[in-house]
Amino acid sequence: AAKLDAFDNHERVWHGRDEERGLNAIVAIHNTVLGPGLGGTRVWPHETFEAALTDVLRLSRGMTFKSAVAGMDFGGGKALIIANSKTDKTPALLEAYAEMLIALNGQYFTGEDVGFTVADADFLRERTPNVTGTTVGGSGNPSPVTAHGVFLGIKAALKHRGVATLDGVHVAVQGLGSVGWTLCEKLHAEGARLSVTDIDAARMEQAKDAFGATPVALDDILKVNADVFAPCALGGVLSAETIPLLGAKIVAGAANNPLVRHEDARLLMERGVLYAPDYVINAGGLLNVAAELAPGGYDREATMAKVAKIPETLADIFARAEAQKRPTNDVAAEIAFERINAARQR
Ligand code: NAI
Repeated sequence: AAKLDAFDNHERVWHGRDEERGLNAIVAIHNTVLGPGLGGTRVWPHETFEAALTDVLRLSRGMTFKSAVAGMDFGGGKALIIANSKTDKTPALLEAYAEMLIALNGQYFTGEDVGFTVADADFLRERTPNVTGTTVGGSGNPSPVTAHGVFLGIKAALKHRGVATLDGVHVAVQGLGSVGWTLCEKLHAEGARLSVTDIDAARMEQAKDAFGATPVALDDILKVNADVFAPCALGGVLSAETIPLLGAKIVAGAANNPLVRHEDARLLMERGVLYAPDYVINAGGLLNVAAELAPGGYDREATMAKVAKIPETLADIFARAEAQKRPTNDVAAEIAFERINAARQR
């Protein structure tokens, strides 16, 4: 824990407000030892500023780990605009946000996250170069690449448990958004059985039609007696209260920070649940957007080769965690620390 605490301090956090244009945003840079802060912008109507701050600090910290484990030269950063993406995300708000990014002068590179689309990234890109995941000269929507990495990660987790095929494997997917939906497509194509939930009931109906998925009530998805639970909505779904309810023996999904506390991974381990650390399995999107910033520009083939390494990294983490009887996220954090500390000493 002491080691983890050393990584809890953020280097910089900015609060941007423009009441006239409705902007209330936080940009957090966690750690830039490996490179400039890179991470998406989340648009979410948190009820309190504290809740928003907690969310963005945890997310930016996670980006430091994600980048480090994926072997990239970027630091951890993330932004949060406190707003409802469906009703409040006006061009004026985005204009004010672009001005905030310009003022940060290259310390933070952004891209998509929940509530922030490719169209939004394109809008910003016309105003500042510090935006990734754009369509013009960029790599576009990172979500399909994230979904591909998660799909490979689920297979790696099953393989670790001695299951060689997805045929007949039951996966409970929480959240049918950009990543969750594509993940379902891939799982369905290889014969997996799906149980799904989303706050958007229409999405569940679509999944029923498209994949023969079984719709499940929001609170019941955790309890489904599936082989795999794939959290693909927001974070904070697994805690000391909810872990005892979990029906699956593998947790592997796209959501950032699915655990309320880092220590909750130990509860999963004690329950015999294999946990694929979030920032390892969901690194595909980051790998994709970061490739835009590489000297030669975006190279799809090279990026997909890096995404193909996600299951190898996971297999290594699973094996080390099992041999050392440690939670998988401790092992993953250690890999990140090693890389950051080595860079610090150079
Ligand atoms: P999205 O906004 O497209 O989808 C989220 C979905 O979850 C929506 O359909 C929403 O209705 C649903 N949802 C929200 N709260 C829910 C709840 N309590 N129960 C069930 N469903 C709920 O977001 P996206 O891009 O698919 O991201 C999903 C997760 O993956 C997020 O945690 C995000 O931070 C993470 N992630 C996404 C990446 C990407 O490339 N898009 C990259 C890495 C992580």
